[in-house]
Amino acid sequence: MATSESELTAEVIASFGNTTDPRLKEIMQSLVKHLHAFAREIRITDEEWLFAMDFLTRTGQMCSDVRQEFILLSDTLGLSSLVDLINHSKGDDRATEPTILGPFHVANSRLLNYGDSIVTRSLTEGEPAIVRGRVVDVDGNPISGAMIDVWQTDANGLYDIQESNDVSGNLRGLFKADADGKYEFRTIRPVPYPIPADGPVGKMLRSVSRHEWRAAHIHAIVEAQGYRQVTTHIFDKESKYLDSDTVFGVKESLIKEFVKQPDGNLLLEYDFVLVKG
Ligand code: BEZ
Ligand code: FE
Repeated sequence: MATSESELTAEVIASFGNTTDPRLKEIMQSLVKHLHAFAREIRITDEEWLFAMDFLTRTGQMCSDVRQEFILLSDTLGLSSLVDLINHSKGDDRATEPTILGPFHVANSRLLNYGDSIVTRSLTEGEPAIVRGRVVDVDGNPISGAMIDVWQTDANGLYDIQESNDVSGNLRGLFKADADGKYEFRTIRPVPYPIPADGPVGKMLRSVSRHEWRAAHIHAIVEAQGYRQVTTHIFDKESKYLDSDTVFGVKESLIKEFVKQPDGNLLLEYDFVLVKG
């Protein structure tokens, strides 16, 4: 029986000693070690502990088929980006850097043709833009047939699945790179937008004087047979919040410029670079 804080921690860690799965044992014992150290370090009060239990309860209650408040919490604490760094950064420096998936990806987007627009809504505002480039390997060789799945918000800062009226499929699409690895699509310039902030995570951000905005970006998942899939974003170089993205998703190498063309259209050129694997 423990008589001190450190003895209690040791006793709880020991209680997981018979766990047969070695990875589970490592995880649970380390969790207790760090959780106890955290509570000791901040000298947690009864009220704070109760508040934390209530916060987690409210976070769970906010979750539904279309809302994952726990992942949003992980995102805003930088945990999602840390998991990404731990697991997806061991590749080649020349490869496209990954970043978080976010909650607004939809599987099986419609397959579009080279040069098609991903805008389906007739009344979409926003600056027209063309995004094009190639999918290549780390030596610059084209990866013919690579699939590029893209999605972004409308000019109102909402993804199609966040809108109350049915605009499903708007501003998302799947493209197949041609024989030279080239892809191209039309869209509108992405805008910064707030993450869903009407739940406990939004409250947390406001109570610590943090904002809820993401820097303007287009999401992409790029994959090809024989290569490692990459989940990433392309960020607009002119966007606000590049240095304070509320989910810590920005990486220098993913920031690109929309360049005004003589015809008034904006053009963003970006090559996705995949590693074999
Ligand atoms: C997104 O980029 O779609 C996103 C990422 C994390 C939280 C909310 C939104
Ligand atoms: Fe996004």
